[in-house]
Parts: sequence; C-alpha cells; structure tokens
Amino acid sequence: MPERQLTVFIYLPGHTTAVPAGIFTHDSDAGIGRFDYGRRYLERPNALPVDPVALPLGLVQREITVNEGLYGAFCDAAPDYWGRLVIAAECRTAPEALSECDFLLSGNATRVGNLDFRESPSHPEPVLGPPHFNQLRDIALAAEHLEAGDTSDARLLRLLRQGTSIGGARPKCTVELDGALWIAKFPAKDDTINIPRIEYATMQLAQRCGICTPQLRLVQAGGKDIYLTRRFDRERHGSGWLRHGFLSSLSLMEWDVRDRLLWEYPGMASRMRRHMSAGHLVELFRRMVFNVMVRNTDDHPRNHGFLVRGGEIELSPAYDIVPALTQAGVGTEYRLAMSVGDEGREATLPNVLSRSAQFGLLESEATQIIGGMRATCREWPACFREAGMSERDIDIVAPSIISAR
Ligand SMILES: Nc1ncnc2c1ncn2[C@@H]1O[C@H](COP(=O)(O)OP(=O)(O)OP(=O)(O)O)[C@@H](O)[C@H]1O
Ligand SMILES: [Mg+2]
Repeated sequence: MPERQLTVFIYLPGHTTAVPAGIFTHDSDAGIGRFDYGRRYLERPNALPVDPVALPLGLVQREITVNEGLYGAFCDAAPDYWGRLVIAAECRTAPEALSECDFLLSGNATRVGNLDFRESPSHPEPVLGPPHFNQLRDIALAAEHLEAGDTSDARLLRLLRQGTSIGGARPKCTVELDGALWIAKFPAKDDTINIPRIEYATMQLAQRCGICTPQLRLVQAGGKDIYLTRRFDRERHGSGWLRHGFLSSLSLMEWDVRDRLLWEYPGMASRMRRHMSAGHLVELFRRMVFNVMVRNTDDHPRNHGFLVRGGEIELSPAYDIVPALTQAGVGTEYRLAMSVGDEGREATLPNVLSRSAQFGLLESEATQIIGGMRATCREWPACFREAGMSERDIDIVAPSIISAR
C-alpha cells in the first residue's frame, strides 16, 4: 500500500491547539506527494498557508516530486537522522523499515514549527510533554546507550523519545526549563573534542560579532558537558504553547537536498528580498562571513532557518555553528557547503565580498562589516577560554579560526 493519507494540522497565531488544514497524500514508491487544503479551512478568516512558499492558500496545488515527495515545511517538521534513530528504536525496528509518513506521524509535539500530522481530522491533540531539565542526566545516558546500540532500558528510551522530533544528526532532546523549551545537544560517541562546549563558545563569538542567536547555556549532567539553546519556535501561553512556523532555507529556496550544486548564499539573499526587510539580508551576510571566519563548513541549507509569524517570514536566530577541524598540514583551502561568491564555495574573504551587492550592501559597507567582525574574532582565545574550553581543544580549533591562520 504505497499511497497513504495524513491530515495536516496547523497551530494558528494566538492558539495553543491546532486545526486541520488539509490532507496530504503520499506515494512512497514514486516519491510523489500532494496536499489539498480543506474547503472549511480555506473559509477561515485567519487561515494561513501550511507552507508559505510551496503551498499558497487555494484549491489547486502542485504535486511535489523532490525531497522524497515532501513539501519543504513538511520536511522541516519531520525528524532527521537522530530523531529517526530514536523513533525506530522505540518501535523496535530499523529506521529503513519506516516510511516518510510513519516518521511524520510519529513525530510528537516537540517537532519544529507550527504543523502537526495525524491519522485523521478527529485524532486528538498530542500532549507537549518533553522531559524536564532535571532529568537531563538520564536523557544523556539514554542517548549514549542508543548510540552504542543498547535499547534494553525502555524507561530511558521513552524519556528520550518524549523530547525527540526535531531535525539534525547529532544526539539531542527538547527539555523544559524555567517555563521555556530548550534543545539539549549531547556529546556524540565519535567526538574527538568537546563539541557541546565548542558549539557554545562559537555561538558566543557569533553573538559578539553581531549575529542574532537564541539564549544559550552550557550545563553539566552525568559528568558530561551539554549545550542548551532556547527554542525560538515555541512560546509559553497560559498553560499551553504558541508555535511559530519554521522553514529551512532548503524550503524557502525549494531546493532538493541532493542538488548541492544549486545551493548558494547570494541566491538566498535575492529570494529573501521578496519576503523580508533589508536588515535580514545583512544578517545573512554576517552569518556567511562568520562561517568563513570560523571555518564552519557544515553550513548546509537546513542549518539556516526562517520563522513564519502570522504571514511574515523572517530569518530565525542562528544555530549549529561549529568550526570544522583541520588536519595537520592539510586545509589551507577549504569550502563552505554553499556557494558564497564568484569563486563558488571557496571560503575566502575576497570571495564573500564579490557578491555583496546581492545582499544590498555597497562594497565599502561590506568591507566595514568584515573589518569589524575580524577585529572581534581576534579576541577568540579569550572568548573560548571564558566559555571554559580546554587549552587542548583551543589548540585543536585554532587553525580553523581566521585570526589564528
Ligand atoms: N533554537 C532553536 N529553536 C528551534 N529550532 C531549532 C533551534 N536550533 C535548531 N533548531 C532546529 O533543529 C534542527 C537541528 O538542530 P541542529 O542543526 O543544531 O542539530 P545538528 O544535529 O547539529 O544538525 P546537523 O545534522 O546539521 O549537524 C535544526 O535544523 C533546526 O530545524
Ligand atoms: Mg544542523
């Protein structure tokens, strides 16, 4: 039975429960999806698109044949490598045995954005009940066991599962703390350095370079460093939560995850110009420059996000910025995941400058921004020490930071 139908729900602004917006039909064999808005939904005066780029409100919609037949906002709301591992472990099966629809349906209320996927329009509202911060020690242990292939402790697995639906490949879990939701990112089994602390330090440096980040924390549980970033798509509202829509840049651009050659920052800036004010383009320019300066080569289009509040799209706070490590004697040249300028993905400052006009910047303005960020980046050792990084890890990341090169 390759063709399945799901009901897509949306949390509209100001509401903590979702309403059905339409039906998604998915043919997993052919990799084709089709969404149809419900007539009653379209009659709502406050109806909003479930995907403002791919699915504008209206009765006639295009089928989708890229990204396994999932519209962008649906892909973003689905679990990725890590979430799939957790869900499959709980189902006592392999991730490959589950379909895209299985993953859409089994994502719980901690999924990113303002959508929900259910078996039918009458299916009950899922409870948003992630674990509490106080349980972090157990959740980190659950993640460690799962990475080691040990799924024997059902209680630990359930705890991890309660907060797992968001994307990304690294071990993580949503937790509640101080009336807010946070993503806790754990060490991974193959890490050779303290990645949670390096991510924390790098995000702090990004903040100092004028980049907008979520609230950040570094905590310890079970003897491990754990990086916490406050969720920007959820807001407490009485006893419930408001949810903002989320689109990755992969979705804003309608790129296929396999079409790596198409990925580019200047094109993203041009598309952003249609939807948001000039300040967001400058912020994207800063993030691109920062990725060059700290050699973050994992800047793929799912690592750039947009919030959809009401009908408005804006750049989300930054996330997932970590220097790529350089091997001794190798790596005098390196490339970002997306093209930055006339020299393609080459991560050099002349290259980022070459297309600055597409970000709405005069060359003198772009040069000034880069100069200011370079000056701030020179203080990286102090910033990283303040963040508690060990001297060993500082030495290891040094070749990746521009002022140390
Ligand atoms: N502060 C946040 N608030 C809401 N959603 C977030 C936040 N940070 C990240 N996300 C979402 O969670 C996803 C996973 O987070 P992140 O990119 O940090 O994980 P990762 O496992 O390191 O990713 P990757 O697979 O790129 O290495 C992001 O792609 C984004 O959709
Ligand atoms: Mg990521």
